[in-house]
Amino acid sequence: MTNSNLTNTVAGPVIQPVIQTRGLTRTFTARKQTVEAVRGLDLEIAQGELVAFLGPNGAGKSTTLRMLTTLLPPTSGSASVAGFDVATQSRQVRQSIGYVGQGNAAGHQQHGRDELVSQARAHGLSRMEARARAEELIADFDLAACADRKVSTLSGGQRRRMDIAIGLVHRPRVLFLDEPSTGLDPQNRANLQTQIQRLHAETGSTIVLTTHYLEEADALAGRVIVVDHGQVIADDTAYNLKSSLGDLITLGFYDQATAAAAAHRVRRSAPEAQIKTLGDEVTIRVAGGRELAPALVADLAVAGDRVHRMEVAGPTLDDVFLNLTGRSLREDNDTATDTALASTDETLEEIAA
Ligand SMILES: Nc1ncnc2c1ncn2[C@@H]1O[C@H](COP(=O)(O)OP(=O)(O)OP(=O)(O)O)[C@@H](O)[C@H]1O
Ligand SMILES: [Mg+2]
Repeated sequence: MTNSNLTNTVAGPVIQPVIQTRGLTRTFTARKQTVEAVRGLDLEIAQGELVAFLGPNGAGKSTTLRMLTTLLPPTSGSASVAGFDVATQSRQVRQSIGYVGQGNAAGHQQHGRDELVSQARAHGLSRMEARARAEELIADFDLAACADRKVSTLSGGQRRRMDIAIGLVHRPRVLFLDEPSTGLDPQNRANLQTQIQRLHAETGSTIVLTTHYLEEADALAGRVIVVDHGQVIADDTAYNLKSSLGDLITLGFYDQATAAAAAHRVRRSAPEAQIKTLGDEVTIRVAGGRELAPALVADLAVAGDRVHRMEVAGPTLDDVFLNLTGRSLREDNDTATDTALASTDETLEEIAA
């Protein structure tokens, strides 16, 4: 028995994170202006995790992914993926990963099926295996109608699906997807989520994706990393992030004076609650709000502040972001869908080149 085995027996297995960054930083200088796109990122992601990076436009999500996939050298700090250093062992990193960039792959002159087969062959599959894998991906991503057309002639959403199929061709151990569902219609977005979940369940691969869709991060990811201005501002399960906030009770009154009086009363009885008054409406963010609300309304009625409307909503990831930054992720991301597909990025094809 080796020393390390002995250590493992006593202390439990030492599990190395599959992705690790230390002080990872990337600065861009353009037109004499310096942008700190990623600022001192310290991250550990274990094998088999499904992680969503969530953040507004320009938060540094793509820059982080591009450093982790060796497409962009860090300005400072370090990162390793699958045990290899992104700066000094880029070839080994590239062999261990799949990457689907934010933009569409441009200029595929091959037919869809042939493109998938060539990509599979480039990853070392035999001709027969490559054909079988291509058919599997065509079925999984509903690409039958695209298989015999040139990739360059496909619609934006069809090409997005083709890009993702290409990223999965070699069943990578670590998969990076930069906004995989941007530009897809709701049905294809739902289908993509199913495929990602299936891939994750069947292969246990580590998946890191970026998204602007709060619902997607919520439904898909076991862990949500919220980034803003190049830094991690929250890192937890969606459930924990939301639970830490409490429910939002909205009370509607007949006039502003009653709303103000009610807010004052609630402030005295629940000092821990965050209370805001807007016109004849009072919002109260408080843990256990759902359970608390009926008694609250009853107490206010007894005191003469009659509530004519009440809503209780569980917290969303947008609320988490708003609470952390004072801004809404939704507002920031209104333009995301329009801009995301316009930007250029690399695909696995370029990685392999
Ligand atoms: N090649 C570049 N040259 C100059 N600045 C850049 C470059 N790439 C990114 N940036 C800047 O770095 C910051 C982070 O950009 P990044 O693309 O990582 O954001 P993002 O979180 O992926 O945003 P989005 O949601 O819009 O995709 C932005 O301010 C961006 O303008
Ligand atoms: Mg991006």
